[in-house]
Amino acid sequence: MSRRRRSKQPSTPPASAPIPDRVDEDHQREQYFFDRPTVARLADMVDAHARPVCLCVPMVARELARRGRAVKLLDVDARFAQLPGFTRWDLYRPSPLPELPDLVLSDPPFTLVRLSQLFTAIHTLCRGELRTRVAIVWPTARALDITGTFAPFGLRATGFEPGYVSVRPIEENRASLFANFELDPRWGLE
Ligand SMILES: C[S@@+](CC[C@H](N)C(=O)[O-])C[C@H]1O[C@@H](n2cnc3c(N)ncnc32)[C@H](O)[C@@H]1O
Repeated sequence: MSRRRRSKQPSTPPASAPIPDRVDEDHQREQYFFDRPTVARLADMVDAHARPVCLCVPMVARELARRGRAVKLLDVDARFAQLPGFTRWDLYRPSPLPELPDLVLSDPPFTLVRLSQLFTAIHTLCRGELRTRVAIVWPTARALDITGTFAPFGLRATGFEPGYVSVRPIEENRASLFANFELDPRWGLE
């Protein structure tokens, strides 16, 4: 795996600070940002929903904020506290939101979080409503693990592979989007 950790820890900016244009990836939290085409595409997907939740996808929430749309963003990284809709939220201590989401999009840390923990977190957000739309990025090589764990939600491969800014596009780093709904046909996926 070509991903390397950095020792630099993020600091929490004051509440009045502007939304940062440039944020360094925090590899200690397995934070890897999507490339621009991926951010744009996923933001379009999220924007088509009324009560979406961005779970561990700060760049998608930031893109929507730039478009003037405030969406719920759940992440442990408080550097995104200036984004509208940000809630500091820990995958390992999930708590439900006041509102039931109509979509949960997530790109979780692949090795730090166990699938059972991720399932509990998303199940908590959906308050057990298994028809909630769920879309999760996960390593392509571990497809059976995610579709098995999330079988109650009916998760399946979509064929969409997100791109990242700093992750080398080699076989072992491949990731795919798994979802329980059809993606926009304009994405041109099989
Ligand atoms: C692979 S990155 C996803 C970033 C996404 N690709 C983007 O461009 O917006 C994983 C995200 O999970 C967050 N994260 C890591 N550990 C977490 C935890 N315990 N609870 C909530 N979020 C966590 C990181 O801060 C990071 O934003």
